[in-house]
Amino acid sequence: MFRASSVLLLAGVWVGSTVAEWPQGVPLGEFILQEREIALQGVLDNIGPSGTKVPGAAAGIVIASPSKENPDYFYTWTRDASLTFKTIVDEFVDGNADLQPYIDDFVRAQAILQTVSNPSGTLLPSGTGLGEPKYKADGTRFNGNWGRPQRDGPALRATALIGYANWLIQHGETERVKTVIWPVIANDLSYVGQYWNSTGFDLWEEVMGSSFFTTQAQYRSLVEGGALAGTLGVPCTACSEAPQVLCLLQTYWNGKYFTANINDNSGRGGVDANTILGPIAAFDLQAACDSPSLQPCHSRVLANFKVFVDTFRNSSLYPINAGISSTDGIAVGRYPEDFYLNGNPWYLITLGAAEFLYDAVAQWTTQGSITITPTSLPFYLDLYPNATANGTYKRCNEISPFHTIVTAATAYADSFVSVAQRYTPSTGSLAEQFLKSPPGTPLSAAALTWSFASFVSMSARRTGRFPPSWLPSFSLTVPPTCTASSATGTYSPATAAGAPEVTVPCTTTVRFEVNATTYYGENVYVVGNITDLGDWDPENAQTMRSDRYTEEWPLWHAEVPLDVGPDGAIVAYKYIRQQDCGQAWVWEERNRTVVVPGCGGEGVIGEEGVWVGKGGVSGGC
Ligand code: NOJ
Ligand code: NOJ
Repeated sequence: MFRASSVLLLAGVWVGSTVAEWPQGVPLGEFILQEREIALQGVLDNIGPSGTKVPGAAAGIVIASPSKENPDYFYTWTRDASLTFKTIVDEFVDGNADLQPYIDDFVRAQAILQTVSNPSGTLLPSGTGLGEPKYKADGTRFNGNWGRPQRDGPALRATALIGYANWLIQHGETERVKTVIWPVIANDLSYVGQYWNSTGFDLWEEVMGSSFFTTQAQYRSLVEGGALAGTLGVPCTACSEAPQVLCLLQTYWNGKYFTANINDNSGRGGVDANTILGPIAAFDLQAACDSPSLQPCHSRVLANFKVFVDTFRNSSLYPINAGISSTDGIAVGRYPEDFYLNGNPWYLITLGAAEFLYDAVAQWTTQGSITITPTSLPFYLDLYPNATANGTYKRCNEISPFHTIVTAATAYADSFVSVAQRYTPSTGSLAEQFLKSPPGTPLSAAALTWSFASFVSMSARRTGRFPPSWLPSFSLTVPPTCTASSATGTYSPATAAGAPEVTVPCTTTVRFEVNATTYYGENVYVVGNITDLGDWDPENAQTMRSDRYTEEWPLWHAEVPLDVGPDGAIVAYKYIRQQDCGQAWVWEERNRTVVVPGCGGEGVIGEEGVWVGKGGVSGGC
């Protein structure tokens, strides 16, 4: 139940009482003003060390959500953290000086995280560890099964840090940028230049392939990274890959929309919010609409936007969109085939759709004209039924088509925010998703940092606040043929920013094998007394594979690189069973040991064993 109006804003303090949803009577502008404060605070509450919702998070670590179960998002993802800090840096650059200590903590936290060895690899010698998607709240590695590597993280982090670096340079702190921040950025750019053409998991952590969002984020990082390197007078070998990345970016276009994932075998149609979130992360107010960087006002990007949104108008997909006119904003989600929690609309995507339209409006307005092509015509017809292709509308007076389109697009953007408002609880807290069927109850991770950050950036665009430009002023050319190239990166710990000294790890690969008869749904892991084996924490155990499992030989095996230092070590371990239906782990009843030689030693084979102790029992869920 909700009351009509029990909310008021007193001297900047949000006074609300608990009502089930935002009183529908609150006008949009007022809602945005109030929610913006809640959202910014919501972001800060999820950042260590003093975020009130995330005790235990290390300094500068952005927790995805305070939720510890169903789902457990009490980790830091490089993507979420970097997109969030891009927004924080933009707010800071725009005058919110209180945010600087958070940014400094972030720089330091990221310098440290870069050096943490993890299941994707290590910083040295070849940067592979930078592709790790997530870490624990205290900044240590997460060993669990995950879609890795994810190659958007380093690019997005570079972009957030470059924004800060550019501000520092404008404020006379070039030396600090050069010695403290650039080394962090340089590792990330090296990673992008080296691996942009290698497949990885998409931003939704599900599809292995090449992903539009990732490629676009990578392109941006190399362009602005190259410019920053120039200013600092330092080399950026990776940055010369930018034209090739731009070439790849064009290839996602299928004639109707941008296919979210290519070089994949997801079997999906390719309509995906991936291709909406990319252009808003790459937004540059000064860019030309035909820039191959694929800005929100680009004709293909607009056509793609319409295909994406219209996909979710289907009320058998999202019943809450039933009855909404085809020119109004609706609830939108990741992609139509989504089955994560049955597939629902997401706040950050619905707000992202609004931000996308505010961006396009700002670009038309900056340019003072709108050019419609046959490709973008369907998008414009929804805003202005008399639109015609191959025409340019110039900004003249208030009854011009230009003005009609700008007004309609702004109202269209607002209508997406109104949808988000409708499903925002009166506390203003934003979860990850809201139910696709009435009453559209919030669901999945509560107080999701990325949802809050998306509200903050959307509201900035709506009020005409835009981040600094990143594209060069000359027009870009796409190479006539795309080449699969790669620049070998150089990596080193950013010690001036707080990273520990690390050296090239010396690992010895140990093969663990155990015969353990399991039921369908039960999995076996190996856990032990060293970091690489999870320090006896089952959540950080190493997964084992059952690809050679047969009835007579129920083999579970794992080949795990262990870093035990130069002298070798005797490592203690156990096999453990993960039960279905959320039941407790089943541990073996005795410890095992393996003698692991130091680096340079021969690879060893862990004893092949038979499970010792009780088996598991299906919970029958
Ligand atoms: C968690 C991932 O983060 C999410 O993107 C995915 O959809 C679900 N797991 C299901 O695979
Ligand atoms: C699942 C989303 O699919 C992914 O993009 C995100 O990084 C994580 N949740 C954490 O928010």
